[in-house]
Amino acid sequence: VRHKLIRADELQPGSLQSVAVGGQQIVVIRTDDGELFALRDLCPHRGARLSHGYVGSMMGAATIGEYKLESTLVLRCPWHGYEFDLASGRCPADPRRRVRSYKVEVEEGFLTIDD
Ligand code: FES
Repeated sequence: VRHKLIRADELQPGSLQSVAVGGQQIVVIRTDDGELFALRDLCPHRGARLSHGYVGSMMGAATIGEYKLESTLVLRCPWHGYEFDLASGRCPADPRRRVRSYKVEVEEGFLTIDD
């Protein structure tokens, strides 16, 4: 089923918005570069709204105590900081945790997802 989210021009680069879709909340994201992503707006850890978090580069490290920003973009949960890959919805630090991700299309000026 195709769902219409919001007008494409309502979502500026570098922003995100939570949209109600069929009884669920979906967070739709437009990166600084204009790429579009959509994830279920519900953290699989303790249920926070991911749309209250923020998009950034994944934090990586080769050893304990090291911090390194990776090129992968993630949505970081506002409660305990779990990160979810914008494209796959996977948590890089814990593959058991994942949020559903959706491919976003632009159709007649609206952002849409297929469910
Ligand atoms: S509720 Fe999201 S990291 Fe805990």
